[in-house]
Formats: sequence, C-alpha cells, structure tokens
Amino acid sequence: MEIIVCDSPHDVAVQAADILQGYANEGGVLGVATGSTPLLTYQELIRRHKAGEVSFAGCTMFALDEYVGLPIEHEQSYYRVIHDEFSDHVDIDPADVHIPNGLADDVPAACAGYEQAIVDAGGIDVQLLGIGTNGHVGFNEPASSLSSLTRMKTLHPQTVVDNARFFNSVDEVPIHVVTQGLGTIQRAGQLVLIATGEHKAHAVAQLVEGPLSAACPASVLQIHPHATVIVDEAAASRLNNVDYYKFIQQNKPQ
Ligand code: GLP
Repeated sequence: MEIIVCDSPHDVAVQAADILQGYANEGGVLGVATGSTPLLTYQELIRRHKAGEVSFAGCTMFALDEYVGLPIEHEQSYYRVIHDEFSDHVDIDPADVHIPNGLADDVPAACAGYEQAIVDAGGIDVQLLGIGTNGHVGFNEPASSLSSLTRMKTLHPQTVVDNARFFNSVDEVPIHVVTQGLGTIQRAGQLVLIATGEHKAHAVAQLVEGPLSAACPASVLQIHPHATVIVDEAAASRLNNVDYYKFIQQNKPQ
C-alpha cells in the first residue's frame, strides 16, 4: 500500500484527482464512490474538465453500490448522487454510467448482470473508495466475505445512523443495499481510498495497520497489488507509523 498523508481535505481531493485524471484521459473504466468524502474530488475533476485538462469522453463508470427500494429519482439514491455530483457535469456519455439496480424484481440476477457488465467492459481500471467509520467499503459491512461479488447486503445499524444525515430521519434510511463485493473491488487495477476527518482515524488505523480481517472490510486493500490510501492529518492521527509513511513520500526512488 502507498499511504499519502495530506495537510487538508482539499489536498486529498487534488491527489485523488491527479490519479483519476490519468485514467480518464485514456478513456479508462472508472469505479466511482458515493458518500461525502469523494465530493471534493469530483468538484476538482469537474473544475479541471471545464478548464480543458481532463476529458471523460471515452470513459465508462461503475458505481460501487445502491440502496434497495429507493426510487432513482430520490435525491439520495446513489443513481442521483453520481449523476448530480459528478457525471452530469463532465463529458461522459450517460449510457456509459452504470449504477447497481436496487429496484430489480430479481435482485440476485441484476447483481450477476452488474458483475458481468464490469467484466464485459474489460474490468475497472481504477476504483475510488471511501471508508465507513466501521471500516466498510462500498456497503461491505464487517464480516463480508473477502472474496464476495456484487450482492444484496443488510446495513449495520451504525451505518444507518451515519447515513441518516442525508435523509429527513433515520427511519427513512433503507437497510438493504446492493454493493460490489470485496472480490469485485479487488479485481480493479488500482484502488484509491480516501478518508478525511478524525472520525475516520480508527477505521484508517485498522485498514492500514490492523490485521487482514473481514472485521475491517477495508483491510482487503492490504492484499491488493496497487492500493493507494490518501488521508488528511486528522484521519491519519491514529497511525503508529505515520512518520515512516511521510518519510517514504519524501524519499521516493528516482
Ligand atoms: C456510505 C457509502 C460508502 C462510503 C461511506 C462513507 O456508506 N456506501 O461507499 O465510503 O458511506 O461515507 P462518507 O464519505 O460520507 O463518510
């Protein structure tokens, strides 16, 4: 894992955008995430797009996850979030933006179809990830199989509470979701996990320095050959070896 510690959430977004921009300009397959953390990265990429620095014209996007049973018109459906916060503001063909279907009559079949669509696109080149306070990635909650594929999951009560801020009340948060699995995520060519804020410090410490364990689903990054973790100082505050990670960044081989 490469660990990049930044001074601010803005710098985290700039670093993540730098990586995604390279793939985008090559017409790559981009895995996109929801939650509040990636929004600054999307804003940075939209700014660069408007400045003519990055094009998504030849790209394909696959979202990580979606709520089950939430109409796609609902402003908190991940369909809407990806479109409203990112893809509608850049030059990707909307037909090339894929979101898991949480409204399918046959959810398992839709999940298998989503998995196949990723394969048919040639696989995800770069997957952007956030992290939940309990170490989840996508909606892979603790105890998720490390080799799982896209499927339905039941949210942890902590995640429901964490995500209630996006809804009028906690009762409105769907408890069932569809998510790319940890196995799906591991197939991506590069993983870029971003985290900011002190409330993520424990999860980041478990991800980077804890054991490889389904108890912290994000720890699956430890066995990925090309994983990059980009955090601000607050999210890095519980890392024992933070000085070493900074030393590595300051002394990269030429
Ligand atoms: C949700 C999403 C995750 C995201 C997490 C953290 O549960 N399914 O993909 O990483 O929230 O969100 P935030 O960035 O808002 O803290």
